[in-house]
Amino acid sequence: MTHSIPLPALLSAYLAATISFSSFAGWNASDDEDESAAALLLEGDHRRGQEIYESCAVCHMPEGWGTPNGAYPQIAGQHRSVVIKQMADIRANNRDNPSMYPFAIPEEIGGVQAIADVAVYIEALKMTRATGKGPGEDLEYGERLYRDNCTECHGKRGEGDAQKAYPLIQGQHYHYLLRQLKWIQNGKRRNANKQMMKMIRDFKERDLQALADYVSRMEADEEKSTTMTWKDRKRE
Ligand code: HEC
Ligand code: HEC
Repeated sequence: MTHSIPLPALLSAYLAATISFSSFAGWNASDDEDESAAALLLEGDHRRGQEIYESCAVCHMPEGWGTPNGAYPQIAGQHRSVVIKQMADIRANNRDNPSMYPFAIPEEIGGVQAIADVAVYIEALKMTRATGKGPGEDLEYGERLYRDNCTECHGKRGEGDAQKAYPLIQGQHYHYLLRQLKWIQNGKRRNANKQMMKMIRDFKERDLQALADYVSRMEADEEKSTTMTWKDRKRE
C-alpha cells in the first residue's frame, strides 16, 4: 500500500483534531470503549496490519522501536489489548496525541477491523534492547519504589498484563516513561488508570525520575526481543 497523503487532507485532519481538542469539554467515554471492546473481539489480520503499519513507521520506525530520545515510544511487542485500547482512546480524543491523530482516524486507516489488524502486527514485532536509558544515579531508590507500588499491575519485570490491558513497560525509552508518569500524575493523560493516578499523586520529581530510570533498565524478555539495534537496520 502506498501512502501518499494529500497535504490538504492532512491539514484538514490536523485542523479537525485541533478544533475538537479545544472544544472537548466533557468527553464521552462510550465511543472509545465501544471501539476498544469491538476490536478486542475481532481476529486481527497480520498481513493487512503490516500494510496499515506503513503509515505508522514514519514515527514509530519500521521495526516499532520508536526513538531512544523517547519522542516516539517503542511499541513493538506491546500487548494487543493495550495497542487496541490506546488506538481507540487516541481516536476518541481520550488521550491527546495531536501529531499521531490524523494518521490514526478511521478516514485514514479504516474502522475497528483496522485497529485489530495493526495491533496483531505490532504485538508480533521484536523489541530492541538498545533503548534510551536514564542517568542511572538513583536506581536502588527507583527499585524500591517500583517493588512497593507498581509490580501489582505492571509485573516484576514490567511485563504488564495482556488480559487486563495493563501496558508492558519493560524495554521502553526513559524519556517517554518519564513523560507518561508526569502526564498521568498531572492529568494531561486523560485515559490514565485511576488507581495508578492516586498512587503517584504525591510523588516528587525525584521519585518519578528514579522510577522511570529503573524501568528503562528492565530489558525486554528474550523471546519478545531481538539483539538487533538501529545500527543493524537494513539499507532501503
Ligand atoms: C506523526 C507521528 C506518529 C505517527 C504517524 C503514529 N504515531 Fe503512534 N504515537 C506517536 C507519539 C508521539 C506517541 C506518544 C505520545 C505521548 O507521548 O503520549 C504515540 C503513541 C502511540 C501508541 C501508544 C503507546 C503506548 O505505549 O501507550 C500506540 C499504540 C501507537 N502510537 C500506535 C500507532 C499506530 C498503530 C500508528 C499508525 C496507524 C501510529 N501510532 C502512527 C506518534 C505517531
Ligand atoms: C492499579 C494498577 C496500576 C498500578 C498500581 C500502576 N499502574 Fe501504571 N498503568 C496502569 C494502566 C491500566 C495503564 C494504562 C492506562 C491506559 O489505559 O491508558 C498504566 C500506564 C502506565 C505507564 C504508561 C505506559 C505507556 O506505554 O504509555 C507507565 C510508564 C506506568 N503505568 C508506570 C507505572 C509505575 C512506575 C507504577 C508504580 C509507581 C505504576 N505504573 C502503577 C495500571 C497501573
